Amino acid sequence: MCGIVGYVGSQSALEVVLAGLRRLEYRGYDSAGVAVLADGGIAAAKKSGKLVNLEKALVDQPLPAGAAGIGHTRWATHGGPTDANAHPHLDNAGRVAVVHNGIIENFAELRAELAARGHVLGSETDTEVVAHLLAEECSGGADLAAAMRLVCRRLNGAFTLVAVHADAPDVVVGARRDSPLVVGVGEGEAFLASDVAAFIAHTRSAIELGQDQVVEVRRDGGAGGAGGVGVVVTDFDGRPADVRHFRVDWDAAAAEKGGHASFMHKEIAEQPRAVADTLLGRIGADGELLLDELRIPAAELREVDKVVVVACGTAFHAGLIAKYAIEHWTRIPCEVEPASEFRHRDPILDARTLVVAVSQSGETMDTLMALRHAREQGSRVLAICNTNGSTIPRESDAVLYTHAGPEVAVASTKAFLTQLVACYLVALYLGQVRGTKWGDEIQGVVRDLAGIAGAVERVLADMEPVRALARSLAGAGTVLFLGRHVGYPVALEGALKLKELAYMHAEGFAAGELKHGPIALVEEGLPVVVVVPSPRGRSVLHDKIVSNIQEIRARGARTIVIAEEGDETVLPCADHVVWVPVTPTLLQPLVTTVPLQVFACELAVARGNEVDQPRNLAKSVTVE
Ligand code: F6R
Repeated sequence: MCGIVGYVGSQSALEVVLAGLRRLEYRGYDSAGVAVLADGGIAAAKKSGKLVNLEKALVDQPLPAGAAGIGHTRWATHGGPTDANAHPHLDNAGRVAVVHNGIIENFAELRAELAARGHVLGSETDTEVVAHLLAEECSGGADLAAAMRLVCRRLNGAFTLVAVHADAPDVVVGARRDSPLVVGVGEGEAFLASDVAAFIAHTRSAIELGQDQVVEVRRDGGAGGAGGVGVVVTDFDGRPADVRHFRVDWDAAAAEKGGHASFMHKEIAEQPRAVADTLLGRIGADGELLLDELRIPAAELREVDKVVVVACGTAFHAGLIAKYAIEHWTRIPCEVEPASEFRHRDPILDARTLVVAVSQSGETMDTLMALRHAREQGSRVLAICNTNGSTIPRESDAVLYTHAGPEVAVASTKAFLTQLVACYLVALYLGQVRGTKWGDEIQGVVRDLAGIAGAVERVLADMEPVRALARSLAGAGTVLFLGRHVGYPVALEGALKLKELAYMHAEGFAAGELKHGPIALVEEGLPVVVVVPSPRGRSVLHDKIVSNIQEIRARGARTIVIAEEGDETVLPCADHVVWVPVTPTLLQPLVTTVPLQVFACELAVARGNEVDQPRNLAKSVTVE
């Protein structure tokens, strides 16, 4: 939530910061602002609403280019999305400017303290106190980095802060606690940003910051100079800190729309590739599954007696599907819980519990807090994550990276499919080390997984009828989704996508639960999407769901059935059929989810909504 950019170098700081904000706007789009250091002072502009409002304002009232600057795109927490609450925030003398992501929990007491000392605070935000505190420390003789360290020690909560001072025109300082910040190092220039997308057009060389660290980037000087730019990282007490350098393995084109109408459209289309990439290099010459990054010794995995998956939203749905595979292939009990609920119920955890934290961004605060709790109880934590350099993998015992590439649209699509693939790999690996699956069985499933990319491609090639259907439902008030077995979480995911994109009432149910209440919702013309299990798998479930479809149709529902190619038993009870290729039962979600993504995307467009940036949402939810 909230996108932050800082820049120092030889290019126009204003242009670089604005371009970075464009790439980070998916993180929050309630307001945007920039500040540049120029002519011995700070020039700032900020506007409520999307970035385009700020860009228009800058055409009317241009700012100097500057060699250093900061910018922010906001997802409001404290104070509504007004111009006054937009970042950057400046101190009363206008010498310090700061942008912030996160929540400063003790801001009320700091604000009262500052007011008592004569400071005038003009916004309702928690952030503004930081600008005033930094200004006080600097006027007491500290340089900006030292001031940042002193101030951070006084803050409670989660924060990424990036600040500039008019007296230090070649310096940008950042700090982080429980909120993301990465450093990009180019030739004679450096970047601070919430994620690498902000600077990938300039450099792929990045530094991951640790918890409670302050970074100073300084042009022409500083320790460890890199092409005329020094990067110095310390902890909050000023001690030099260890940092990890990494190279971003995707390029700027990956973060562009590439001719698609929206990022979501593009990311749906990228799924065959994302699935294939996540499988790359996983099978060794001897046919063994290789998960080298896993780093948890096989002996320990053999001792695991419970798996707990924690995740939020779409990633939680991936966890729900993982449970079927983990329990079936390993016979280890698996619990799945929304990360936001997990630690508050005092879950039973010990050294034999393997906690799997699934997160695209690697920054979701609820998931981070859940994994910290699990580690405190002595459990091992394995992260499944799409974002190198993010907090969740860094704080986990092991990580399996999905290789979806950057996911920019707020609604998760390709990350979900790759999370599923990663979950299947973890389940198979557990089966391998524990001996509950034979090698040839594992290779068989991996072969099936390898075939999924082609199957998804086939689904995508035939989506026009789904789009037309979605357009025809633009006026509907409610859509229900039903599924059974692994199709049940798919139904939940279909409903979530529709809610967040089309702003429609949508609910997912286990089809067997229908008769226990939800069937009362069914009335003439109600669209109901049903994900039908393969007739070749648990055929008893298949037959039962066909009966469920008949029950709702008899009550007037308009039935939209997603069924396996060749399953003609659904024809008599389906108003519309979406065929998906034949896949093994447990892998079916990899194909059945795709039409639901397309359906939600098209319906949202038909209703005039912006699919990449749905209202009230943000990608990367870094507050609890
Ligand atoms: C829905 C969606 C969200 C995320 C959730 C977790 O389309 O994108 O529900 O799945 O906020 O995010 P990550 O995976 O980044 O932890």
